[in-house]
Amino acid sequence: MSELENLCDVIIFGGYGDLAFRKLMPALYHLSNDGYLNKNSRILSVTRDAMSHEEHIALVKSKLQEFLAEGLFDEEKFENFQLQLELVTVDLMHDDEYKTLHETLALYPDRDRINYLSTSPSLFGTICKSLNHWDLITKKSRVVLEKPIGRDLESSRAINSEVLKYFQESQIYRIDHYLGKDTVQNIMALRFSNRFFMPLWDANNIDHIQITVAESVGVEERWGYYDDYGAMRDMIQNHLMQLICLIAMEPPCSLDADSVRDEKVKVLRSLRPMTESDIEQKTVRAQYTKGTNNGESVPGYKEGKDMENSTTETFAALRIDIDNWRWNGVPFYIRSGKRLNKQNSEIIIQFKTIPYSIFANKGRCISANTLVISLQPKESIKLKLMNKIPGLTEQMRLQEVDLELNASLDTTRKPEAYERLLLDVIRANPTLFMRLDEVESAWKWADIVLKGWEENIVPMKTYSAGSDGPSAAIALIERDGRSWHDE
Ligand code: BG6
Repeated sequence: MSELENLCDVIIFGGYGDLAFRKLMPALYHLSNDGYLNKNSRILSVTRDAMSHEEHIALVKSKLQEFLAEGLFDEEKFENFQLQLELVTVDLMHDDEYKTLHETLALYPDRDRINYLSTSPSLFGTICKSLNHWDLITKKSRVVLEKPIGRDLESSRAINSEVLKYFQESQIYRIDHYLGKDTVQNIMALRFSNRFFMPLWDANNIDHIQITVAESVGVEERWGYYDDYGAMRDMIQNHLMQLICLIAMEPPCSLDADSVRDEKVKVLRSLRPMTESDIEQKTVRAQYTKGTNNGESVPGYKEGKDMENSTTETFAALRIDIDNWRWNGVPFYIRSGKRLNKQNSEIIIQFKTIPYSIFANKGRCISANTLVISLQPKESIKLKLMNKIPGLTEQMRLQEVDLELNASLDTTRKPEAYERLLLDVIRANPTLFMRLDEVESAWKWADIVLKGWEENIVPMKTYSAGSDGPSAAIALIERDGRSWHDE
């Protein structure tokens, strides 16, 4: 790394928040130790809490020990890393307090500045206004916005336009951490670097697509946030929509940020808007009731503090159609929920069956090929193919086997999504971040469903914690003669 490469000030607003400790600090620790963040870069935690430098270092250390994956904390590495850490005490609501930040940043006026807004979106405008007032936004400043940006199209527009008063669109990095996952990026590699998939990736050959993001955890300590958002706004409108885009998009003309984002936004604009009867037949929303998690009994969602009247969904399943040439007639079934029986995130590309079978195969059918892209708990890509069972039987017998595409790559530590994304912000590469029109198109589509749900077009269902979700979600796909992929 040259002396100036990746040299910047990373300023984390909400520096003592859950995201900062759980994801951002561990990511910066790895980037710094692995030589991707210049050792002279500073990491400034901006928080309301006043404490001494020593107390700050001790706190970050204990959080790293808690949140780094097992065995990855190293005393010696931390000794180097801590030299980059600083605490800046600012009450973000009080403009005059930004003076401290002004003084800290003034030491290196020409540095790239990464302003990471790890706060409630309601503060984005206030923070940007004060940064501007204190002259802290330079041409080399970038701002990272955490999702969700708004609760609907209107509030998202309001937040974005506040930020756009002070930053250019090219300086804004709207993060969706799913895009930083290695396997999610591999979708593009898989699709656009293998001739093999190219002619098969369409309605002639694919029967349907499934996307599942199932979590066994509940809402943890985030009741206040989650109850205002629910599964649709927290997961579907952003993470699952981005996965749909990567699966469904046309090949971009290059890998530059706008070429990729142009193709993604076309997918979002081609999502068929739901009618009232679509909402009734093709969407499921549900809330978990008491049940079990890892063998222990857990309370239902409504039993959370002040939640007894909550109408927030903790599970959503939908059938989505894309109106374009490539995907006409290929349904995308998606589902996501909390407190399910297991953590499992995967994308299933279900190919059509062969037109006619010449194999008797002892009455067993020839399974259609399936491409299984697993994101969690383990990242992997498998292609399910039919193969002959070795032996001398009179009639040839076949079985389904898995062709594992990435087993050989599994030897090194896979970087976490936030490492990839923070590094991209540091390098000023916005390809994996959402452009304004993407966010707005996703909201436009989601708003219709959310409005239908508010009007109770489809009733809220329930499912027991620790189950595989509401039966209505199973019925949703079975009505079409298909079933969820569950191994
Ligand atoms: C976040 C949501 O964006 O993604 C959380 O706000 C969710 O509710 C999390 O738990 C899931 O991320 P991952 O990477 O663990 O699948």
